Amino acid sequence: MGTVTASASEIEKAAEVLRAGGLVGVPTETVYGLGADAENPVAVSRIFQVKGRPSSHPLIVHIGSAEQLDEWVRDVPASARLLARHFWPGPLTLVLHRGPRVPLEATGGLETVAVRVPDHPVALALLSAFGGGVTAPSANRFGQVSPTTASDVRAELGDGVDFVLDGGSCEVGVESTIVDVTGEMPTILRPGGVTREDLEAVLGYPLTVPAVSRVRVPGQHPSHYAPSARVVLVEPEKIVDEAEAAQELGHRVGVFLPASFADAEVKAHAVVPVPRSSAAYARGLYGFLRELDQKGCDLIVVSLPPEEGLGLAIANRLRRAAGPRPTV
Ligand code: TXA
Ligand code: MG
Repeated sequence: MGTVTASASEIEKAAEVLRAGGLVGVPTETVYGLGADAENPVAVSRIFQVKGRPSSHPLIVHIGSAEQLDEWVRDVPASARLLARHFWPGPLTLVLHRGPRVPLEATGGLETVAVRVPDHPVALALLSAFGGGVTAPSANRFGQVSPTTASDVRAELGDGVDFVLDGGSCEVGVESTIVDVTGEMPTILRPGGVTREDLEAVLGYPLTVPAVSRVRVPGQHPSHYAPSARVVLVEPEKIVDEAEAAQELGHRVGVFLPASFADAEVKAHAVVPVPRSSAAYARGLYGFLRELDQKGCDLIVVSLPPEEGLGLAIANRLRRAAGPRPTV
C-alpha cells in the first residue's frame, strides 16, 4: 500500500457519512471505490448520478469478511466457498443469487449480486466501523480511467463525493476479477487482480474467459477505462515506427515503450517505460494513462502484453480504452 493511511477518527467520520446516506471515496487494493450504504436505495441511486452511469449497470457489494457472505446472498455453491476461502480478502468478486438484504437498485434490477471482501486495511476498518455492506463502483466518471490515488478521486468527482479516505496508492492497480458462480461452471466475466491461472489451480479445472480478439470490431469493445487522448493498439515490434509516424503527422503522441525498446530514442511527445513485471505494469497502468493526458498527449500508442497472468487484465483494459468512443 502507499504510505498514507486514514486515521481512526477519519474512518469513524466516513462511517457516519455512509449512515447519513452520503458517498465516500474508499481505497481498496485494486482501485478506489465510490461507496454508499448498500441497503439505502437513495444513497445507491446517488452513485449512478455522480458517476453518470446508467442505472442498469450493477454494482459490487463490499463486505467485511467471508463469514458475512450468507447475510447477502443465497444458494452458495461449493465452488464459491472454495474461492472465497482462498482469495478473500482480495481482488476477486463473486456473482451469486441476491438475498433480500440487497436492494434491486444496487443490482441494476438483476436477481444476482456481485460481492467481494477488499484487501485493504482502510476499507476493512471502514466496513467494520460501519457494520453493513458498502456498494462501490470504481470512483471515476462513467467510461473514464479508474482512480488509484485519493487525489485522482477528488480530481474525478470533486464535490460529487462527500468524503474521501486516503489509503495511499493502490497496490494491485486493476479492478477485481469477476467470477459468475451462479451457473453449472464458474465463468470469468472480467479478468482482474486474481489471475485465471490462480483460480484454475484452486478449482482444479480450466475456466472460460470472454472471447477476445486482436482485431477491433466496431461496437464490440465500447470504450471504457479511457483517457481523453485516443488510444491505438499496434503490434509490439512496430511501436516506435508507429509512434514516430503519428508524431510527424502532428499528433502529440504518448507512447508506452515496452522494456525490449528501453534504449530506443523515440521522437514522441511523452514516453512511459513499461515495467518488466506485470504486477508493476498493472499497478502503474491507470496512472500512466492519466499522466499522458496531463502532459497534453492527444494520441497514446501502446501494444498489448502477452495475455497470461496479470497480462490478461492489462490487455483487457487497454483494448477497452482503445474501443470506439460514443459520439456526443
Ligand atoms: O476492484 C473492483 O472490482 C472495484 C473496487 C472498487 O472494488 N470495483 C469495480 O466496480 O470495478 P465497477 O462498478 O467499476 O465494476 C463492477 C462490474 C461491472 O462491470 C458490472 O457489470 C459487474 O461488476 N457486475 C456487478 N454485478 C453484477 C452481476 N450481478 N452480474 C454480472 N456482473 C455484475
Ligand atoms: Mg469501473
